[in-house]
Amino acid sequence: MTHALQTQGLRRVFGDVVAVDGIDLAVPAGSFYGFLGPNGAGKSTTIKCLTGLLKPSDGSMTILGINPAEHPVEVKRRVGVVPEDLALFDRLTALETLTFVGTAYHIDRAELQRRSAELLDLMTLQDAADSLVADYSHGMRKKLALATALLPGPELLFLDEPFEGIDAVASRQIRNLLKSFVERGGTIFLTSHILELVERLCDHIGVIANGRMVAQGPLEELRHGVAVEGDAAGAGRTLEQIFLDLVGAEESELPSLDWLAR
Ligand SMILES: Nc1ncnc2c1ncn2[C@@H]1O[C@H](COP(=O)(O)OP(=O)(O)OP(=O)(O)O)[C@@H](O)[C@H]1O
Ligand SMILES: [Mg+2]
Repeated sequence: MTHALQTQGLRRVFGDVVAVDGIDLAVPAGSFYGFLGPNGAGKSTTIKCLTGLLKPSDGSMTILGINPAEHPVEVKRRVGVVPEDLALFDRLTALETLTFVGTAYHIDRAELQRRSAELLDLMTLQDAADSLVADYSHGMRKKLALATALLPGPELLFLDEPFEGIDAVASRQIRNLLKSFVERGGTIFLTSHILELVERLCDHIGVIANGRMVAQGPLEELRHGVAVEGDAAGAGRTLEQIFLDLVGAEESELPSLDWLAR
């Protein structure tokens, strides 16, 4: 099996905090990979290390068969990313943002216009195309960030919580778009806390907790791997149940909060 992305012992520390503690990712080419974990588990830090936004403290990686430490520009040319903080320029409009990114990727003018119009249409941002990003809502920024990641026609997409803050109509559009991207041979590495959505979209899952991988593999294998007795080999288990089992989250009793809503 060829991999779009592999890491060996990927590690990132911030002072005393070990955010990513030696993880081995294996993301098959053409897969829709959901990277899950509790808040603070190390997902965004991992994505930043994989996309060159942060330097790993240790470990190695191969992206699209290339070592990004040796060929960073070649990797960036073929990869799209929506990072957690979106990285947009407030003083540009949406159209200017797309033009800026398209020019950096050497997309010719006519093609850039065609792709920009299609993406603005897809994201229902046509009416805001000439407004400054500074005046955009949270969801509009996220949609523009996704449009800029798609514009150069990447082979591999890294999406850090792409559906967070997106309305139901746009979410359906984006889901369909991402599915068709994978059907055409692209690979997606996505983080999300919306497990029901991940379950519908993703075919491979990795779960991280406290910076360490606790499970990884095809979703169907994970269903069986955490099956409990009498559960028909795990066929009926939802991703939420699998996740809660893996990260060992016992449901705890609420504190009384008797000062609240008296
Ligand atoms: N720039 C930073 N400086 C110091 N600590 C950081 C920094 N970035 C992340 N961390 C720490 O690294 C750990 C992992 O954070 P990260 O943002 O990767 O988690 P996450 O899995 O993306 O969480 P969430 O689901 O809340 O987005 C946390 O303990 C966090 O406090
Ligand atoms: Mg995060």
